[in-house]
Amino acid sequence: MKPNFDLKDKVAVITGGGGALGSCIAQSLAESGVKIAILDLTIDSAKKTVDLIESKGGIAIGFESNVLSTESIGKISKEILAKWGRLDILLNAAGGNMPGATIAVDQTIFDLSMDDFKKVTELNLNGSVIPSLIFGKIMAEQGRGSIINYSSMSVDRVITRVVGYSASKAGIENFTRWMAVEMALKFGPSVRVNAIAPGFFVGNQNRALLLNEDGTYTDRGDTIIRNTPMRRFGEAEELNGAIHFLCSDAAKFITGVVLPIDGGFSAFSGV
Ligand SMILES: NC(=O)c1ccc[n+]([C@@H]2O[C@H](COP(=O)([O-])OP(=O)(O)OC[C@H]3O[C@@H](n4cnc5c(N)ncnc54)[C@H](O)[C@@H]3O)[C@@H](O)[C@H]2O)c1
Repeated sequence: MKPNFDLKDKVAVITGGGGALGSCIAQSLAESGVKIAILDLTIDSAKKTVDLIESKGGIAIGFESNVLSTESIGKISKEILAKWGRLDILLNAAGGNMPGATIAVDQTIFDLSMDDFKKVTELNLNGSVIPSLIFGKIMAEQGRGSIINYSSMSVDRVITRVVGYSASKAGIENFTRWMAVEMALKFGPSVRVNAIAPGFFVGNQNRALLLNEDGTYTDRGDTIIRNTPMRRFGEAEELNGAIHFLCSDAAKFITGVVLPIDGGFSAFSGV
């Protein structure tokens, strides 16, 4: 029998949907007939993605929302249900690094600001847990749904400087497994929770770290390329196929996994 990748008429919520990766998958899912709710810190950022989707005939709505606000996410979940009557997919794409939670080249771990460490941990970990609890409850009640979290290459191997980001993404992977087990044991096999672990994709947050102004690699960018067997950075749309698959019935026996999409970075010893 042919595997079922069809997502037509499903409803997806994408946090951080105004960002580089969130906007790209939002447009891709919309092209497959998925109705998209974009949540981002500002309505302008959310609207940009909504406009791109609508310009290609897709269906989308934007919300201004902080993923750390239980109240705001709760209110939005009710609005989405009132509008579309269901929720099938949650992509927790809001997240990222913060300069204060990194260790600069001339610093050591003892220079770490605990305030910034806390902020980055809250954004990446709590910022996925809160939407997962609110939208995941709707899925549990429906007996059906798929949640995808965004991890990183900085979990299994240490990537220098990004200590707070790494710790919070490690938490995300553990939470992914934890929630996957909890949902399957208590709410049946059709509410699934997985994560993707993107390799290196040039985006707003890391462009200056990876590329010089003339487009050549920085030292850090060069080191990453040397540790990536495919010898290039990823393109945002190269995440889309994996996300489509994980959200579809073709992946209905898959829960609790973290899928690297990284040009071989996580497999390579560097030698
Ligand atoms: N770009 C990469 O190479 C890469 C690699 C691995 C993992 N990731 C992860 O993928 C996810 C998306 O990354 P990206 O490159 O698209 O980043 P991005 O900065 O382009 O997008 C993130 C979006 O999240 C929004 N956001 C930030 N804080 C928020 C909050 N509190 N509430 C609601 N929205 C908030 C931002 O406004 C932004 O639109 C992040 O979790 C990131 O850590 C990215």
